[in-house]
Amino acid sequence: MATPEDADGPPFLPFGRPDYSDREIAAVTRVMRSGWVGMGPETIAFEKELAVALGAREVVCVNSCTSALLLSLRALGVGPGDDVVCPSLTWCSTANAALHLGARPVFCDVDPETLCLSPATVAAALTPATRAVIPVHFGGHSVDIAALRRSLPAGVGIVEDAAHALGARLPDGRPVGGSGEPACFSFYANKAIATADGGAIAVDDPAIARLLRSLRVHGLSVDAWQRHATSRDAMAATPLSLLGYKANYTDLQAAIGRVHLARQPEFAERRRLVAQRYAEGLAAMGLGWQAGVTSAGHARHLFVMLLPRALASARGALLDGLRQQGIGATVHYPPLHQMPLYKAAGVQAGTGQPALPVTDDVASRVVSLPIGASVSESDAARVLAAVRAQLERLA
Ligand SMILES: Cc1ncc(COP(=O)(O)O)c(C=O)c1O
Repeated sequence: MATPEDADGPPFLPFGRPDYSDREIAAVTRVMRSGWVGMGPETIAFEKELAVALGAREVVCVNSCTSALLLSLRALGVGPGDDVVCPSLTWCSTANAALHLGARPVFCDVDPETLCLSPATVAAALTPATRAVIPVHFGGHSVDIAALRRSLPAGVGIVEDAAHALGARLPDGRPVGGSGEPACFSFYANKAIATADGGAIAVDDPAIARLLRSLRVHGLSVDAWQRHATSRDAMAATPLSLLGYKANYTDLQAAIGRVHLARQPEFAERRRLVAQRYAEGLAAMGLGWQAGVTSAGHARHLFVMLLPRALASARGALLDGLRQQGIGATVHYPPLHQMPLYKAAGVQAGTGQPALPVTDDVASRVVSLPIGASVSESDAARVLAAVRAQLERLA
C-alpha cells in the first residue's frame, strides 16, 4: 500500500510516530527467548511500575483503552437503562463503551479554553438515569477530577478517559491516574507509551481491580500465567460464573511498555520543547491553541491549534495544503453527536440531549499539529513555516 512517505517531495512528518531504540528491541527479544510471550511476569512487573508512576494502588493492563473503558463501566455496574455522560469532542471509544453495555451516551459540552468537560457542562447533561460520567483529559489537559466528584450526585460513577494523559497532573499535583477513580490509559502506537496497542486501568478499589482482572480473561478467576505457575485448572477450582471478555495484555507488549515508561522524561521533554516552539510561532501569526499546553501539568499528547472562525470553512484546504508540504496535521475530533451511529441511537440534541454550542464551534476550528516522541524542534520549525505558507495562500 502506498503511504505518504512514498510520495515525491519533502519527507513526510506524521502526526504521531513512536520512538524505538535498541533497548525496546532487546526487551522484546528477551521476552521472546523466555518462552512466555502471553500475559505473565512481564505484564505483572509493568503493572507494578505503572502503579508507582501513576500513584495508584492497582493497575490492570488490557488490550486497549477501548477495552479499559468498557470493562471499567461494566465493573461500576453500568447497564441497560443507564445514561453515561461524556463529551462529544472525543474518540468514539469513549461513547461506545456505554453503547456496548446497552446504556445511552449523553453528550455534554466542553469548556472553550481547555476543550475538556467541566462540572458545569456535566451538570447540564445529568438526567435521573445518569449512572456514570467519563471525563476525557483531552489532548493531555487534565480535568479536575476532585471538583467533578464534588459536583456529582451520590451514586454516579466516574471513569476517566486518560488515553491522552499519561504524564499529566491533576490540579492538586497528583498524576492523572492517581485520583482513585478508574482511569483508562492507551498504549496505542501514537501514545506516550506505544506498545503497538494496549491499555491499562489505574484504580484504588481492590474489589474493582479484582473484577477487572477477571473480566479481562473471560470472567475466570485465574489467568493462563497463574494456571501455568500453580498448575491450577482454569475452571475446576472456580467454576465460571461471570461473562467476561478476551481483553488481556501480552508480555511482548509489556516489554516495550517498561522501557517506554522509563524513557518518559526524555519523551516529555521533547514534547515540551515542540509545544513551546508552536506556541511562540502561532502567537506571532495571531493564531490560538488549547489552553494550558505549555504549562507543567499538560501531557502534550496533542498540540491543538484553533483557527479563527473566519477560516473554519478553509480548514480542509489548509490540511490538504499541509499534507502536500509533507505535514501530517489532522483533526481531533469530528464531534460524535454529528455521527449517524449516535443519531440512530437517539443520541442527539433535542432528544433529552443538551445543545453543544461550544463543541460545534471549536470542532470546526481545531487542527492537531504533529507532536510526539520523534518530532524535533526543527520539525516544529518546518511545520510553522508550512502553516504560515498555507495561511498566506488561503488569505
Ligand atoms: C480519547 C480517546 N479515548 C480512547 C481511545 C481508545 O484507545 P485505544 O486505541 O487504546 O483503544 C483513544 C484512542 O486514540 C482516544 O483518543
